[in-house]
Amino acid sequence: MQEVLPEGAVIRKLWIGETDKYREHMLRLDPQSRRSRFGGGMSDESVSKYVDLSATLDAIVHGCFVDGVLRAAAELRPLGLGFPRQAEAALSVEKPWQSHGVGSALLRRTLLTARNRGFRLLHMACLSENERMQQLARKFDAELSFDFGSVVGEVEASRATPLSLMRELLTDSHGFATAMLDLQSRMLRA
Ligand SMILES: CC(C)(COP(=O)(O)OP(=O)(O)OC[C@H]1O[C@@H](n2cnc3c(N)ncnc32)[C@H](O)[C@@H]1OP(=O)(O)O)[C@@H](O)C(=O)NCCC(=O)NCCS
Repeated sequence: MQEVLPEGAVIRKLWIGETDKYREHMLRLDPQSRRSRFGGGMSDESVSKYVDLSATLDAIVHGCFVDGVLRAAAELRPLGLGFPRQAEAALSVEKPWQSHGVGSALLRRTLLTARNRGFRLLHMACLSENERMQQLARKFDAELSFDFGSVVGEVEASRATPLSLMRELLTDSHGFATAMLDLQSRMLRA
């Protein structure tokens, strides 16, 4: 499927050692987006601690870089031993890049990764007033049920296939190659 992304945007997984980029992105979220992302108010310090924690929790984070700066991210986190084959997904897109297809592209990558990891159930916790996230989840056939003023979207990820593994491999190598080209052109410009 052809994706239309903002000019200069590249989607790839974050690498080990890019925690600070993730933190800076999270801290740049405007107050409303931050509240939507975390389901409530969060201080800068709490956001920073959250990012440190997610780096230790086997999270797989896809990022959208625009001109080399991380502007959006989708985090996929296994729920752990008590919840086999279940993971939580959460998205964040900085305001100027919202409604440009970035969230859709990130969720598509995240679902592919979830499928290839054998996750059967994805939880997406978001506030009931978060129409945009609900619309986005619906695009991927999420089933939504309401609970205590929050929406939990549960997406059944179908099983991994050789084709889905190959697609993930291809998108990863594309992201890596583009990042290398980007780095090279920056070094040449410097
Ligand atoms: C929710 C969020 C991830 C969506 O990402 P996005 O890049 O803005 O979404 P997209 O541009 O891919 O649009 C996805 C769908 O949302 C809907 N949408 C887009 N803009 C919208 C708007 N202004 N109002 C209502 N719905 C909207 C559309 O259905 C759209 O699909 P379509 O373009 O095929 O019609 C992003 O807005 C965000 O980070 N918000 C703050 C944090 C947050 O709410 N995180 C979710 C908690 S898990």
